[in-house]
Amino acid sequence: MKNYNILNNDYFCHVMRIDIITVLPSLLESPLSHSIIKRAREQSLVNIQIHDLRPYGKGKYRQTDDYPFGGGAGMVMMIEPIYRLIEKLKKERSYDEIIYTTPDGLPFTQKEANRLSCLRNIILLCGHYKGIDQRIRDHLITRELSIGDYVLSGGELAAAVVTDAVVRLLPGVLSDETSALTDTFQDNLLAPPIYTRPADFRGWKVPEVLLSGDPAKITEWEEKESLSRTERLRPDLLDPTMGSR
Ligand code: ADE
Repeated sequence: MKNYNILNNDYFCHVMRIDIITVLPSLLESPLSHSIIKRAREQSLVNIQIHDLRPYGKGKYRQTDDYPFGGGAGMVMMIEPIYRLIEKLKKERSYDEIIYTTPDGLPFTQKEANRLSCLRNIILLCGHYKGIDQRIRDHLITRELSIGDYVLSGGELAAAVVTDAVVRLLPGVLSDETSALTDTFQDNLLAPPIYTRPADFRGWKVPEVLLSGDPAKITEWEEKESLSRTERLRPDLLDPTMGSR
């Protein structure tokens, strides 16, 4: 199937594959089995494979974590199970990125979602417990992403967030492909307010201009609202020196 990706202005003829490695596969199944992502998977617009790390664990108990060298609280995810699974996947295909979701990663942004949506095969490794052995990060991981400055109990929800944000950008996934272009953040601006019927609910009125039927005036109003909303709520998006994400 040949697709035209409006966001990337490029031609595509592949199905993106996302391999997710986790010790809690059931935590990921549900968020990736509904609505837009469910449809995308059913229509083979994306191939998402969730891998349970446990069978790759060590010994009789399939151990995947161990105590940290040097002491301290919490367990560390061991190298061998992760290495074994990643090497197995790498033998089957080549990967453009092997991503580790971690609170000390680079901030995950719409820009990064756009970039990832142009890739063919990616692996998402979900951290757990205290984190993973640093040598995995040094030798196997090609990118580390954080979904925000807070600590989750595992990387699964972060991997689901990254996957969702990427998959909805893939060609054919949204029914109106241009709709991703008007998303909040797509051009570093928040989206304008939106309304539906009734035009007047107990005196709460929809702005007159949206009922005018004049597309040029509506666009002008939406752009003005986008800008003023961004200035008010997220000035950092307009001024990179404020630490914009
Ligand atoms: N794992 C735990 N917290 C996380 C975060 N904020 N982003 C990505 N992965 C995480």
